[in-house]
Amino acid sequence: MIHTFDPTSPPIDDAALAALIQPTKLHRSVYIDEQIFELEMARIWGQAWIFIGHESQVKNHGDFYTTHINHRVPVILVRDRSGAVHVLHNRCAHKGAKLVDTVDGNARAFRCCYHGWTFNTDGTLLKIPNEAGYEGTGFDPKDPQNNLQKVRSASYRGFVFATLSDTIVELNEWLGGAAEVFDNLCDRAPEGEVEVAGGVLRYQHDCNWKLFLENLNDTMHPMVTHQSVVQAAEDYIATLPPEASSQRAEAEIIPPFGASYENFEDSGITGFAYGHHYDGGKTSIHANYSVNPDYWAAMVASYGEQRSREILAFNTHNTLYYPSLTIKSAVQNIRVVRPIAVDKCIIETWSFRLKGAPDEMLQRTLLYSRLINSSASMVGPDDLEAYSRIQDGLQSTGSDWVEMHRHYNRDKQLADRTVGGGTSDLDMRTQYQAWQAYMGKLAHHIPTGGDSDE
Ligand code: FES
Ligand SMILES: [Fe+2]
Repeated sequence: MIHTFDPTSPPIDDAALAALIQPTKLHRSVYIDEQIFELEMARIWGQAWIFIGHESQVKNHGDFYTTHINHRVPVILVRDRSGAVHVLHNRCAHKGAKLVDTVDGNARAFRCCYHGWTFNTDGTLLKIPNEAGYEGTGFDPKDPQNNLQKVRSASYRGFVFATLSDTIVELNEWLGGAAEVFDNLCDRAPEGEVEVAGGVLRYQHDCNWKLFLENLNDTMHPMVTHQSVVQAAEDYIATLPPEASSQRAEAEIIPPFGASYENFEDSGITGFAYGHHYDGGKTSIHANYSVNPDYWAAMVASYGEQRSREILAFNTHNTLYYPSLTIKSAVQNIRVVRPIAVDKCIIETWSFRLKGAPDEMLQRTLLYSRLINSSASMVGPDDLEAYSRIQDGLQSTGSDWVEMHRHYNRDKQLADRTVGGGTSDLDMRTQYQAWQAYMGKLAHHIPTGGDSDE
């Protein structure tokens, strides 16, 4: 029986949950049912490795950044005195107050606003006011329960993830072959490292979190949804004199969103275990950006010509590390998904500096984020209009199903990945195979996408 999101309906059972996802279609309730949203927060966001932040956000001892693992569990990313980076539960060990209530900052220690218990930056208990009252009570200040509790965490090339699960595989195994895009992002830096720069663009999307993820590699929409902005940009570019070089940087970014179906088909989609996937590789909408000569010289000095060519030729568009992080290695920005409610999520865009690259590279990244990702941009808000129309449209009782047949049965299974044409629904099928495995509490067995409904 399919769950019908009637408020009087009984709790959804695992068999009903499994029936919501078919190989080529899914039930609309996964976008609009509050009970399913709560289960997703527990079973997907409560098991998967969730992106917390980048080590460069907490460069010095005491630097901290706060966020949530899912819509409820607050955490602190912090660097301790020894230089180690921790993800700590943002919950006082005394009576449970949220300890840090600012987004970021620097602290020598964390002092609770309620009774003044104070903790070191590695989470250990430092001080209890008027401690004599505990003498002879059996209370042990050395008991680890009286520290801030650590969340299981790991980092890959400076990107810190955490999980509420004790049993999910290690981060490296979970990233699998999709880690090659992190490598490409960092290898694009002449010094082999990136760091956060230029602040964050953060805005609320009035839609279910999965609609944002499904759009990332949906290459059947840009030429439709973004048609008007591409047309306006092309009309404007046609008026530019040849010496208008700064406007030409903008001119490289917007028109590729109007590329043909054939171009997007050529870019290809690659799916991995755990719902990860990317589009592009051989080519993408970023493939024809001009190469800054100073940047090229710095790359060649670090890697030599042949390796530099290989690094820049691996041209992906969006990569999703399901469910929380999407990166654009070719333009050095990432977008982070923070669900709030069944029909609301926050999307954050962070920009990165390529260490050892000229400042023009960071300026291009910031320009891209403003033109494409910000709430005042000309492209992202087009997408948001589509997401909120889907959120409204799926209230209709006219049909229960959302479809994802495109290129079904044409995907090719390789050793650790599934590959398909760039306009395939392979990306969506990959995500929902992971969805089904996490929701069925089978996180140890998450396939690589493709046609199989194992
Ligand atoms: S709740 Fe934090 S000191 Fe009491
Ligand atoms: Fe779009």
